[in-house]
This record gives sequence, C-alpha cells and structure tokens, in this order.
Amino acid sequence: MSQIFDEVSKLYDPFLKAITFGGIDRWQKALIEFLDKEGNRLDVGTGTGEVLKKSTNRGLKVGIDLSMGMLKKAKDKCPYCYFLLADAENMPFKELSFRTITLSLVFRHIEDKRAFLKEAYRVLEEGGQIGILDINKFAGTKLLSFLMRYPLKPLGLLLFGRERWDFFLHSLENSLSTLEVKRYLEGEGFRVSRLNRYMLGIVYVLRADKT
Ligand SMILES: C[S@@+](CC[C@H](N)C(=O)[O-])C[C@H]1O[C@@H](n2cnc3c(N)ncnc32)[C@H](O)[C@@H]1O
Repeated sequence: MSQIFDEVSKLYDPFLKAITFGGIDRWQKALIEFLDKEGNRLDVGTGTGEVLKKSTNRGLKVGIDLSMGMLKKAKDKCPYCYFLLADAENMPFKELSFRTITLSLVFRHIEDKRAFLKEAYRVLEEGGQIGILDINKFAGTKLLSFLMRYPLKPLGLLLFGRERWDFFLHSLENSLSTLEVKRYLEGEGFRVSRLNRYMLGIVYVLRADKT
C-alpha cells in the first residue's frame, strides 16, 4: 500500500480537495477542535502532514506514515513537525508519550485495527484522547461509490490512473460503520465521547477517551 501512496503523494492534496468539494479542511478542523487536551500530538498515517500543519496544540507534533513520498511532502509543508517512517501497528514510541492521537482518512486502511488500538492505548497518557475522521459505511457509501464509479471517474483516472483509482474505490467500499468503529474502540479500552457526521453522513469525526 505504501507504494500507492508514494505514487499519489504529489497530486494528493488537490485531489482530496476536489473529491471532497473542499470539505476536508472543515472536517480536519473539527477533528482538531474535538481534541481539547493540550500536549504532544501524534498524527497516524499523516500523509502530507495537513492535520499537524493545522494543529495549534502546544507540545510536540509528530507524524508517522508508511509512505516516504507522503512524508517528504509533509516535511516541506510542516518543517517544525517531526515525521517518521513507521507502522501504526508497531509504533516506535515509549509508553505515555502523547496526549492526543489523530487519524484523518486512515483508520479503514489499517490492516490490524486491534493491534493499532493496543499501541494507541500504550503510547497515550492517562486521560488521553484519540480523534478519528473517516468515511462512514452508511447510506451515503453507495452514493459516493456511484459518483466515483461514474461522474468522478474521468477526473480520478486523469489524476491517478486506473490502478490507484480502483484502490480508492475499494477502500471506500471497505469503510466501516461508526458502530463498528465504536466496537473496536470500546474493545481496546476507549470510550467514544463525541461524534459528528458530515456530508449526508458519508464522513464522520469522533473523539474517544482512554479510560
Ligand atoms: C488516505 S491517506 C490520509 C493522509 C492524511 N492523514 C490525510 O488526511 O490526508 C492514508 C495514509 O495512511 C497511511 N497508512 C496506511 N496504513 C498505515 C499504517 N499501518 N501505518 C502508518 N501509516 C499508514 C498511508 O501511507 C497514507 O499516507
């Protein structure tokens, strides 16, 4: 998967703005506002570093990703942030290193979600928070899937090529419902304390607290 994100890294930001009709900025701001604890922040699957660039938390801003292409873009955009090539399922950090963790459009890509959540629990301070922004498997999933299969397909193919476009479609169609995400979180010691839906329920932002 990292190869796909390496390849798309140059065009990733304009593509994301286009496909979300600019909504990504609002949703990422909501994700950041949901997390009201100050301190070190870890952005998992940071991509081009946009969430850390927008973050105003006091403390360290650290991003991890499996794609070196994405991380290079991130470092250009956010020179005062720290970026590492690392796997969400096996993080190179000590216990209790972070106050907050963010994931923007990443949770559904993580293969072993339980392994990741165990790691998130380990590296979060007591009372720490995790914020997740992602695509919801809901009534809107079918609509977006239709848009990507038909009207948006020419733009998608032009920007990304067939293989990558099919991958995005596949990952949309593999998205989880908020109920499924909540079950994952509660199974690993987190409690969902805020949840908002956007764009007719296609997108959700939630906050969960380490209990
Ligand atoms: C759709 S992009 C989202 C990037 C960014 N967070 C954003 O909102 O634009 C998903 C990112 O997650 C990364 N990723 C997927 N699985 C990962 C894992 N297990 N560990 C770290 N990063 C991962 C990918 O390399 C990719 O850069």
